[in-house]
Amino acid sequence: MSNSPAPFEPKIVAFCCYYCAYAAADLAGSMRLQYPANVRLIEMPCTGKTDVRVLLEAFENGADGVYVAGCLEGDCHFLKGNIRAKKRVQYAKKLLDEIGIGGERLEMFNLSGSMGPRFAEIAQEFTEKIRKLGPNPLKKTGTFPGEMPEERVAHDK
Ligand code: FES
Repeated sequence: MSNSPAPFEPKIVAFCCYYCAYAAADLAGSMRLQYPANVRLIEMPCTGKTDVRVLLEAFENGADGVYVAGCLEGDCHFLKGNIRAKKRVQYAKKLLDEIGIGGERLEMFNLSGSMGPRFAEIAQEFTEKIRKLGPNPLKKTGTFPGEMPEERVAHDK
């Protein structure tokens, strides 16, 4: 019997526009395409509703990686919501770099509702990337609200 620790399973939050990524996720489901259970979808009326605070809070609340998935550029139902989201994601990436979490843990993707296979591919690739990066550094330092650092949990047993 092996005592090796369980492999790291990242928690991923995906803010998905209802018109594209969310529809693509549905399509992926009906096509029986597999994508990792690590990805928790949050439906948005448009990615333009995503603000920097919400993105950072996702990390504070336990995410190891976060992505925003919106309509293809030029196809946003609210005209420029996805362009606004892109700028916010870029800004939040800089903040994540500055505070030591790492901007590479946050990305923006664009797709259409008919891109079920692409949805599944993004979910797989992003999960794999975050798995390689390891846990959100906030967890390691024990500054993560509601969670203790692993050493302390072990020590307290
Ligand atoms: Fe899809 Fe705006 S409606 S990103």
